[in-house]
Amino acid sequence: MEEKTCILICQNRTCKKQGAADILTAFRTLNISEINYEGCGCLGNCGNGPMVLVLPARIWYYHVRPQDVSKIITASTEKCEST
Ligand code: FES
Repeated sequence: MEEKTCILICQNRTCKKQGAADILTAFRTLNISEINYEGCGCLGNCGNGPMVLVLPARIWYYHVRPQDVSKIITASTEKCEST
């Protein structure tokens, strides 16, 4: 059984100062049903935020901007279909 893709968006202090709340809102607005979106605690890459981690592929995105969100979703969906 294939594991559902989960996108974690750090909502800890440093990423929040860098706009992480807007990134989480952008993911939730697009709301693709095949993917879970979750705010999470520090991902250990403070200073490169907002940080996003796609699981189970373990693909990291840093300095994410709201305009990057649809590209991340597209890449994550393609990854799902090819595996
Ligand atoms: S605060 Fe986001 S990675 Fe640490």
